[in-house]
Amino acid sequence: MCGIVGVLGTVDAAPRIVDSLKRLEYRGYDSAGVATLVDGAIVRRRAEGKLRNLEAVLEKSPLTGISGIGHTRWATHGAPTVANAHPHQAGSVAVVHNGIIENYLELREEIVAAGAVLNTETDTEVVAHLVNLAMANGLSPRDAVAQVLPRLKGAFALAMLFSGEEDLLIGARKGSPLAVGHGDGEMFFGSDAIALSPFTDRITYLDEGDWAVITRAGVEIFDQANQPVTRPEARSSVTSSLMDKGNYKHFMAKEIHEQPEVLGHTLSRYFDYTTKRARVEGADQLKFKDLSRLIITACGTAYLAGLVSKYWFEKYARLPVEIDIASEFRYRETPVSDKDTALVISQSGETADTLASLRYCKTNGATIGAIVNVPESTIAREADRVFQTIAGPEIGVASTKAFTCQLAVLAGLALQAGRERGVLTPEREQELVAELIEVPSLALKALARESDIEKLAHPLSKASNALYLGRATNFPLALEGALKLKELSYIHAEGYAAGELKHGPIALIDENMPVFVIAPFDAIYEKTVSNMQEVAARGGRIVLITDERGASECGNAAENTVILPDMSDIVAPIIYALPVQLIAYHTAVFMGTDVDQPRNLAKSVTVE
Ligand code: G6P
Repeated sequence: MCGIVGVLGTVDAAPRIVDSLKRLEYRGYDSAGVATLVDGAIVRRRAEGKLRNLEAVLEKSPLTGISGIGHTRWATHGAPTVANAHPHQAGSVAVVHNGIIENYLELREEIVAAGAVLNTETDTEVVAHLVNLAMANGLSPRDAVAQVLPRLKGAFALAMLFSGEEDLLIGARKGSPLAVGHGDGEMFFGSDAIALSPFTDRITYLDEGDWAVITRAGVEIFDQANQPVTRPEARSSVTSSLMDKGNYKHFMAKEIHEQPEVLGHTLSRYFDYTTKRARVEGADQLKFKDLSRLIITACGTAYLAGLVSKYWFEKYARLPVEIDIASEFRYRETPVSDKDTALVISQSGETADTLASLRYCKTNGATIGAIVNVPESTIAREADRVFQTIAGPEIGVASTKAFTCQLAVLAGLALQAGRERGVLTPEREQELVAELIEVPSLALKALARESDIEKLAHPLSKASNALYLGRATNFPLALEGALKLKELSYIHAEGYAAGELKHGPIALIDENMPVFVIAPFDAIYEKTVSNMQEVAARGGRIVLITDERGASECGNAAENTVILPDMSDIVAPIIYALPVQLIAYHTAVFMGTDVDQPRNLAKSVTVE
């Protein structure tokens, strides 16, 4: 992951770099650093941990210089120490890097054999050394970079600063994103439009394999074969204002509470409220009518949104779905052809494995639809058709509103597919859309249960393990509940299909095991409740998330019940996601963990 920024400006660069890094901290927050040219010499300031630590260092020892680079790190190679923090310097070059140099061990040996001393455990340092060695052999910075880039295996976005070169930065992109920002007499590099937003809205995205030389006068771009190329300049719509938490303690709380509103925006984009029909512009490109299967691939919470939609596509459109975690899909060598359509789902639009899956499908001729929250992202740019979630910026590392908005888009696509495939009658489609239109108000009602949910946090914080159970679309929600609890509170949790309980996890049940059962009163409620009784019979402490009818029909097996309003099947996974998010949120708050930036995680995962 990691965020990178480069500035060739007209005023001091360090404060501007820090401002940009604040917007990039979602990519990683293990360490941060900045390097500028002071009287032509590279000077660095670096700090372990969050960006505020780097700010403190800069306050004590300010950095002048109008040209510089900066980095916020999610550690891959080497612990998150100051020594391993970027920028890395070798002689007259400093480098910031996002990605992994896979052949770094081999390159290290070569560099050591050439007499250089390596000071870090990172893969990045080899890049600085190779460029520096090439320059020591008489090459110019640009010739040195051109010589070194083809030797690097793996994924990288790089930005480099050279001593004595006040009007030069060189950047490169292969597998990890990098954009060029155009100012007035100033030029910039940034991982994305968000990083560049304090400086400019005029952006050129580099293509795969491109590298770029910027001076204050402009940019020269070269492709992998070192041929000069032109890439279009676009206007970014990303706002430059820093996101704030409003009256909330955490971004996550704000984002959970924004759901009624952003779900309203997303639903109104994909459904016609007057005719009560799905209205997904561009869905025709996905060729639903002719498909024998739909491929879906994504990571993390986005994958779980896809898993919910599998039930919808199969039920409402009779369209078989093949869904896989992107990191598995990309190496599975699954047969894909030009008869296929693949849907990729990603909040950031930058997740490396999801992007690789997209490219695998594209190379094999499939049509690509992408559900993304960031319209300028790489996935959005490479897909044939983009279906944007209108969730607004999601800052909390654990995805909440993006997830439910992904579900809203997927519901639109599933109903559209149902119509195109002649499965859904107009009446049935209208019924389902009428139900979906109720989502924002049902979400508000679900959030009104927050104080009941907050009370669960104290007992749950004492547990070392927890289990989440659900059937059908509540099964992915059980997985999501367990994922959220793990990542936010560090309590080990597992999500299971309720019917699978007796094939293993039931052995874990004792009086110390909280078990969350997600079971609205639907056609399979009784089956789930039978599984719940099996847990109760073994002393498990059950929290049942259900509706009035479900609560009254379950006997006295549950220790606690969260009661949501009545709703239809298609709406339930969207609304039941909210208590699941709130349980994890309040437990983490109660335990005092870093809710918005949990340890070891990052919001945008641009490495494998
Ligand atoms: C990270 C985030 C998750 C997210 C996943 C996929 O693990 O912490 O919240 O679901 O990446 O990210 P994407 O941007 O592709 O949705």
